[in-house]
Amino acid sequence: MDLTDTAWIDVCSVDEIDEGGMYEFQHGERRIVVYRLQDGLFATDNVCTHEFALLSEGWLENGTIECPLHGALFDVKTGQVERGPADCALKTYAVRTEGARVQCSI
Ligand code: FES
Repeated sequence: MDLTDTAWIDVCSVDEIDEGGMYEFQHGERRIVVYRLQDGLFATDNVCTHEFALLSEGWLENGTIECPLHGALFDVKTGQVERGPADCALKTYAVRTEGARVQCSI
């Protein structure tokens, strides 16, 4: 087993995420969403840092995700808050493709 590879988990097929689309999944207790932007794949926690809402039910536009509950806006590449009411950044994850599979580093 390659120990440097143990943090990468298989998420989905590359063609399951259209450009401008999202793919949500759960890993243990953690809820994560992968976004496909024009310049690549990015991932953040799927739960808003303000209250409980799933960002995958919000709106992805211009590299930001808008929370469906109170409208907080996060940069999906950095997790940084672009607009409140949230004031804590989202955790981000590295994403890569291996062949036709999307993998996420947890
Ligand atoms: S729960 Fe996301 S902005 Fe309030």
